[in-house]
Amino acid sequence: MINSPFTLPCGVIVPNRLVKAATTERLSDPYFKPGKELIHLYERWSDTGAGLIITGNVMVDRTHCESAGNVALDDATNTADLKKWTAAGTKNGNQLWTQLSHSGRQTSKFVKKRPKSASDVQLKKMGLFGKPVPLTEEEILEVISNFRIAAKNSKDTGFTGVQIHAAHGYLLSQFLSPITNKREDQWGGSIQNRSRLLREIIVAVRQEVGDDFPISVKLNSADFQRGGFDEKDSLEVIKMLEDLGVDLLEISGGTYEKLAFFLLNEENAKESTKKREAYFLEFAQKVREFSKLPLSLTGGFRTYDFANECIQNGEIDFIGMARPFITNINEIKGFLNGEVKELSNLIVRTGFKMFEDSAEGGFYARQLIRLAEGKEIHPNLSPMLCSTFLVTSEFKKAKAKKRVGSL
Ligand SMILES: Cc1cc2nc3c(=O)[nH]c(=O)nc-3n(C[C@H](O)[C@H](O)[C@H](O)COP(=O)(O)O)c2cc1C
Repeated sequence: MINSPFTLPCGVIVPNRLVKAATTERLSDPYFKPGKELIHLYERWSDTGAGLIITGNVMVDRTHCESAGNVALDDATNTADLKKWTAAGTKNGNQLWTQLSHSGRQTSKFVKKRPKSASDVQLKKMGLFGKPVPLTEEEILEVISNFRIAAKNSKDTGFTGVQIHAAHGYLLSQFLSPITNKREDQWGGSIQNRSRLLREIIVAVRQEVGDDFPISVKLNSADFQRGGFDEKDSLEVIKMLEDLGVDLLEISGGTYEKLAFFLLNEENAKESTKKREAYFLEFAQKVREFSKLPLSLTGGFRTYDFANECIQNGEIDFIGMARPFITNINEIKGFLNGEVKELSNLIVRTGFKMFEDSAEGGFYARQLIRLAEGKEIHPNLSPMLCSTFLVTSEFKKAKAKKRVGSL
């Protein structure tokens, strides 16, 4: 059942099967440390009773952040606020893991005009991203070291585990995809080579944190782009992860170019997905056929009976949810014990195709701020205003950080 405990391969027990999947909060203070609102938000999430809470993108290198509002764990200064954050987020005995991430070419121009990536393939989205510069061999080794340092800082400040973000088009996902990885050295070409960076990071992080500390990987089932990282690649990578001591594999899908993880709101979702609400479930079943890795699936889960059915059938081990932890935060407790049978979705639409992604992102970003300030969500925010919110707030956050010299 969804409220039963689960023992991870490293020996850590997660109190139940409900996971708050990563939701970037963009609520750091000017020095990339958690602000008091972020700390409060995690207290609220711990109060939901979820067994595992995964932070939004926490950056291993502040010059490559998904948002200028992210927390960065690239230094070990001012740990007092980090410790307050972990104390709040583990208040109810749940697990709290950092999602360690490097944004690569998905770093906005406000932060870095020429970000680093696997190759020089530019992300073309609303003119927000610069042409990337390919990482040198030495810089790749530095990236590995940055993940290792961030994992150490996570453990030292009270996080109970880490998740390595290799999905959604960020740096590790850029290395995995033949569209964004054109390298001809040992880091590009075959899937063995394209996955080398991810695998070396897992090995380095394991060396750093020891055998009894959970390490998770978030991986795309596919990028859903022609010629990109596909299901076959993903299954190959998962086979390679089997022997690396990964405690939990979270399956997702998509990149900034194709926001498959928001699929829920796509009118033309596949029939099979409509029937079985979790949209990467078919892929998870393929993984289950050969893999012993504990599995968490995120994307689309909204009903108690279906979530329970997936756990009881042994299709997956954990139910990941993101948006309900924002818009339905007060119902999660009831969902866990079966009193709330369904979490309703809020559909955010401007009516203009080019604004839909940013409207959805902006809508949730603004609700997160409300929750962090101790307010309740506001279901009727203007979708058009939401769509401009992210860009303007990113500009301001990057400027504030540059002003104090932290970026
Ligand atoms: C506001 C918001 C922020 C998100 N930030 C992250 C993130 O930092 N890292 C990540 O891996 N996924 C992120 N996601 C994707 C979610 O983890 C999840 O994969 C997706 O929302 C699908 O799950 P859901 O249908 O339960 O919302 C975010 C989603 C939302 C709505």
